[in-house]
Amino acid sequence: MSGFDRDWLALREPVDARSRDTALLQAACETARDTILDIGCGTGSTFRMLSPRLAAHVRWRFIDNDPNLLEEARRRHGDVAEIVHADLKRIDAPSFADVGLVTASALFDLCSEDFIRAFVERVSETGAAFYAALSYDGSMSWSRPHPLDEVMTANFNAHQLSDKGFGISLGPKAWQVLADRLKTHSYQIRVAESPWRMTPADADLQRLFLNGIVRAVFEYGELDEAEIRDWAEFRHRMIEREDSLCRVGHQDVLAIR
Ligand SMILES: C[S@@+](CC[C@H](N)C(=O)[O-])C[C@H]1O[C@@H](n2cnc3c(N)ncnc32)[C@H](O)[C@@H]1O
Repeated sequence: MSGFDRDWLALREPVDARSRDTALLQAACETARDTILDIGCGTGSTFRMLSPRLAAHVRWRFIDNDPNLLEEARRRHGDVAEIVHADLKRIDAPSFADVGLVTASALFDLCSEDFIRAFVERVSETGAAFYAALSYDGSMSWSRPHPLDEVMTANFNAHQLSDKGFGISLGPKAWQVLADRLKTHSYQIRVAESPWRMTPADADLQRLFLNGIVRAVFEYGELDEAEIRDWAEFRHRMIEREDSLCRVGHQDVLAIR
């Protein structure tokens, strides 16, 4: 089980949707043929984003290792998508059958260099296009600055470089390594920013996101607890006052041969 909670994924879905780079999204849809393989599909948010833009004959295969998320994906899309319960580290050849496009959203910042290297090799053998959206790039900023913003971000980013199930993750560097690896396999690469721009209307997501940062920084253990609490209280106060815009950097990568 991955520990990604349905409510968290549901809350981020509309923000992800408006953050994706639209030119890359459109170009990814134009490459779609045969079957689209969505890796780390969660409840199917990539499908919900792409499918209205696709021809009806395109088929989908979803892969995830979290049975709860897959159950929800099956409930919502089981009639149109093949649902595969598997660990991406042990993905088998039939998973790539007839695949013309591989998609992933909010996944690659969890992945290690070894996983990315091996996975890109597998995809390149099929010649499929690859669209990996919404990888966190290490940048965070707020409309109301606090003196600890930079150090909190640095500690959060350092905590990202831990094992998220794929070996030591590349965190904010993953999208760049992914793009570089794809390039070595003769892919043409397009990269575009897809930052979250959270407003007071996204208060619930802002709160959960903040709690995640604070948990990670506590766990990382380099910063004084009182300082972390001070920062967190300030940030929550700004959200309550509806005085907080928050930008979180992400990158989209599209690779086509
Ligand atoms: C941040 S969530 C993104 C989910 C979905 N793509 C979305 O955008 O809503 C990461 C997803 O990767 C899945 N995942 C993580 N590690 C995995 C692994 N080793 N094998 C298969 N799926 C994995 C999680 O279960 C989760 O659904």
